[in-house]
Amino acid sequence: MQKSGGEIKVLSQALASQIDIHKETGGVVPEVAAREHTKVFRPLLQKVLQEAKINPPVSPLTGGLSDTSPDRGRLGGGFDAIAVTIGPGLIPALTVGVTAARTLAYAWNKPIIPVHHIEGHIYSALGEGSFPALALIVSGGHTMLIEMQDHLQYKVLGETRDDAAGEAFDKVARLLDLSYPGGPALSKLAEQGDATAFDFPRPMMHSKDLDFSFSGLKTAVLYKLKESEAASPREALERSGDIAASFQQAVVDCLIQKTLQAYEKIQPKVILLAGGVAANSLLRAELKKSIESRGGELRIAPLALCGDNAVMIGQAGLVAFDAGRKISWKEVDAQARISITEVGHWG
Ligand code: KG4
Ligand code: ZN
Repeated sequence: MQKSGGEIKVLSQALASQIDIHKETGGVVPEVAAREHTKVFRPLLQKVLQEAKINPPVSPLTGGLSDTSPDRGRLGGGFDAIAVTIGPGLIPALTVGVTAARTLAYAWNKPIIPVHHIEGHIYSALGEGSFPALALIVSGGHTMLIEMQDHLQYKVLGETRDDAAGEAFDKVARLLDLSYPGGPALSKLAEQGDATAFDFPRPMMHSKDLDFSFSGLKTAVLYKLKESEAASPREALERSGDIAASFQQAVVDCLIQKTLQAYEKIQPKVILLAGGVAANSLLRAELKKSIESRGGELRIAPLALCGDNAVMIGQAGLVAFDAGRKISWKEVDAQARISITEVGHWG
């Protein structure tokens, strides 16, 4: 990724999806995911370096480091730093990326820009900084409302107390025998259903805080399914579209209600929507309607950048680099539970 003036140009990008593998295991198995990361990483790196016209820091003749002198930075590579996600997440998977970044940073003699996974999602939607900003981040692992008074300044206003929104989609999809990942499959099924057919609970929707909770909703779906299967298995199957649509509506209602509460509280200039669940078309449409009817500006991450990707880490990394966030390869480590408010405040 290259920045000149205010223009950001993606020189090359690649994504190795493990969805087919997770489909077989019905979800993410950390060891399987990490092994796959290791397997795909090298060819992926080779491909992006080639496309971006960056020479690898190894001698084509010996295959080893072509320069190990302390001033080997003159090897250049034509870039300033390497951004990498340090967490939060599954350590076996994060470690593959962090170890690769560390090795390359050593070989190229470049600093590392540690990036928090959620920062990446935020910057995939932000673009030009307009503050205060309010971000709704909804993914398989997180459901968060974050206030930003400036670049890289985060205040967590609320988050889920149990399941993340994407996790709820995935779990309910499994109850409905849909394939992994559940979100897209469930929202497709919901298209054929009636969202008012079942009045599922909207947990915490009227609580004064800005937290979320989705596990009770999932349980309510489970009971409804059991009840209708016991009554008539055939009818239950026929009504799965109604269940999917009613469930999806309940999740979207909760997300929008809390976002509007936060909107009233901080009166942001822009509202950001990002993360895997931001690909959900009902959520996109309903949030847009709610924010625009209040005269606000909603920025949604481009569809291709809603799910996890490297571009979003580069986007956040560029801003962090400009703000002076750079550390040595010796200092970088994968962190399973790091909070977005901690990142950048060490070293
Ligand atoms: O951001 P992401 O790719 O990975 C995490 O950081 O977790 O988000 C993945 C999540 C999964 O739970 C998936 O089911 C959900 O995003 N998702 C959706 C949709 N597309 C992906 N949920 C609802 N509707 C969708 N269209
Ligand atoms: Zn994510």
